[in-house]
Amino acid sequence: MTAALELDRLSVHFYNGRHDIAAVREASLSIAAGTSFGLFGPSGCGKSTVLRVVAGIELGWSGQVAAFGTPYRAGQKPQGRLRRDVQMVFQDPYASLHPRHSIRRTLEEPLIVNGIADARRVAAEALAAVGLPPDIAPRTPNALSGGQRQRVAIARALLLKPRLLLLDEPTSALDMSVQAEILNLLMDLKAAYGMTLLLVSHDRDVIAHVCDSAARMRAGLIEAILDRPALAAV
Ligand SMILES: Nc1ncnc2c1ncn2[C@@H]1O[C@H](COP(=O)(O)OP(=O)(O)OP(=O)(O)O)[C@@H](O)[C@H]1O
Ligand SMILES: [Mg+2]
Repeated sequence: MTAALELDRLSVHFYNGRHDIAAVREASLSIAAGTSFGLFGPSGCGKSTVLRVVAGIELGWSGQVAAFGTPYRAGQKPQGRLRRDVQMVFQDPYASLHPRHSIRRTLEEPLIVNGIADARRVAAEALAAVGLPPDIAPRTPNALSGGQRQRVAIARALLLKPRLLLLDEPTSALDMSVQAEILNLLMDLKAAYGMTLLLVSHDRDVIAHVCDSAARMRAGLIEAILDRPALAAV
């Protein structure tokens, strides 16, 4: 079966004006469709950079990247199905949601832009799928709790029925009790939608709770791939 994601010697370099930073160094991994894969390691090891490449946000890379058998092209935004198949949820829902747009507008706009009929109904279904009541639709993000905001960000990522959901520290800005709720929601949605998850977290317990396998990164390198028993062991 085609892998949901395949990275082959992915490298990303940044230049900060004084020297070269090798943020990702020849990282290779393969994620089977329908599984949850974790990426963990210390701050600055390159986790978000990997996700940003896969999300099509970071375009300056070398190596090979393919999602569901479709190759990416370095320097180019993913197009067509690839653009819809891969969606990302960011760490801080406050920063990723427009502060003055209502939740309804935040959810309906991507649908309208993508020419999807019946935006109002699809947006309402997405809210229900993440366990939010319909009466929050007219509110702006500041009138929601942190957990509710992250649910809206997840609902937005689900609108285009992605096959691969990228999650960059999706719970680290939330209270402990809310963290578990959001992780459980993500696992339920994965099962309901048949998605593949790629979850970045610095928290090994979070990775072990959610993931079937994971990669440990350090200084831009993938040091080890851990299977389920290895994850549970620590
Ligand atoms: N746009 C950029 N310009 C220059 N350097 C960058 C840029 N983005 C990331 N870096 C550098 O690349 C390295 C990897 O950063 P990255 O954000 O991927 O780490 P991370 O593992 O996600 O860390 P954290 O756990 O703190 O989120 C770091 O040294 C970072 O400073
Ligand atoms: Mg990061």
